[in-house]
Amino acid sequence: MKTINFNSIINLNDIERLAESVLPQYAYEYYFGGANDEITLRENKQAFQQIRIAPRVMVDVSELDTSTTIFDHTIPAPILFAPTAFHGLATPKAEAATANAASISKTIMILSTLSNTRMEEVANQTDTPLWFQLYVYKDRELTRELIKRAEKSGFSALCITVDAPLLGSRERDVHNNFTLPENLSLPNIIAYPGEHLSKENSGSALTTYFSTLLDQSLNWKDIEWVRSITNLPLILKGIQHPLDAEIAVKNGIDAIVVSNHGGRQLDTVPGTITLLPKISEIVNNQIPIFLDGGVRRGTDIIKALAYGAKAVLIGRPILWGLTLAGAEGASKVFSILKDELSLAMALTGTKSITKITPDIIWKG
Ligand code: FNR
Ligand code: LAC
Repeated sequence: MKTINFNSIINLNDIERLAESVLPQYAYEYYFGGANDEITLRENKQAFQQIRIAPRVMVDVSELDTSTTIFDHTIPAPILFAPTAFHGLATPKAEAATANAASISKTIMILSTLSNTRMEEVANQTDTPLWFQLYVYKDRELTRELIKRAEKSGFSALCITVDAPLLGSRERDVHNNFTLPENLSLPNIIAYPGEHLSKENSGSALTTYFSTLLDQSLNWKDIEWVRSITNLPLILKGIQHPLDAEIAVKNGIDAIVVSNHGGRQLDTVPGTITLLPKISEIVNNQIPIFLDGGVRRGTDIIKALAYGAKAVLIGRPILWGLTLAGAEGASKVFSILKDELSLAMALTGTKSITKITPDIIWKG
């Protein structure tokens, strides 16, 4: 691992640039890329950049509090680690390093089903709250086992990803014949620890993995099945339509993540922040809403919270941090965002998270 001068890193753009310079191209493109023309990938960031803030002044902000409480966990800032696959491409300790970073940051980490570190080992690594991101396999026994193992090893919520019955077409991965290197496996999936991903392939091996093993028939009835086998809070990740948000609430889902999978599934959907006001309106505070996609600045976080998000999830920047300096790098991402959020709160006259309301958005 190259020695990184942390003083030269001021923002998340710096971290991304440095990570790009050290990762093999196929790994960088897998992490970075989006579906098709990457319109949504870009729009996730641009949509935040186009929103203007209306700050209030003359508020005593000498004592600022960025902390928030999510399902009984108080965390120092409303910033969670999104579930992302294959941390072994970034750092030798893979998700064990990420768990360590979450522990340093004292925040919630969502572990992907497709991690390169076994969920039990990740759980052993950390005292920080963990949620398990579930992909539902056609093989229901395997799926049931994943849920039961997550429960047993102390994961405190299940985050079911619902926007990926098939994998979006990431054309960079198709060009690169993306597959996992021989030394990495998928140890959570005991029945298929990796052979489906590591063999010679043309196109993206992950595309074949999804179409072969994951359940394209996933629907609301299956959520009832999951509900019948676990008492863990259920979070649905990948909600974009207000009508789906409404069904989620009616079905007793505990929280939703407004997400387009970081622009990696259906291209040309709007940036997630664009969707948030209508979804917040229909959910009407009945359950927490999380948001991810393109969050790169403290001002992005304040905008998401103003529009009704309880917290944001961070995907790629954590991977860039892991690439540069393992756990230390990923926790640096968290601390930069937390500091930026704190400054944005001071300059908008919002001294605590609950003071962040739609009033701080400029509606010209
Ligand atoms: C993801 N994402 C994802 N989501 C999920 O539910 N399970 C997964 O295994 C993965 N894997 C994954 C890998 C990589 C490389 C990326 C970039 C993303 C989506 C992720 O949870 C999140 O929705 C987005 O990454 C958020 O967008 P940003 O923060 O990356 O812009
Ligand atoms: C991805 C999958 C694994 O986005 O969720 O690459």
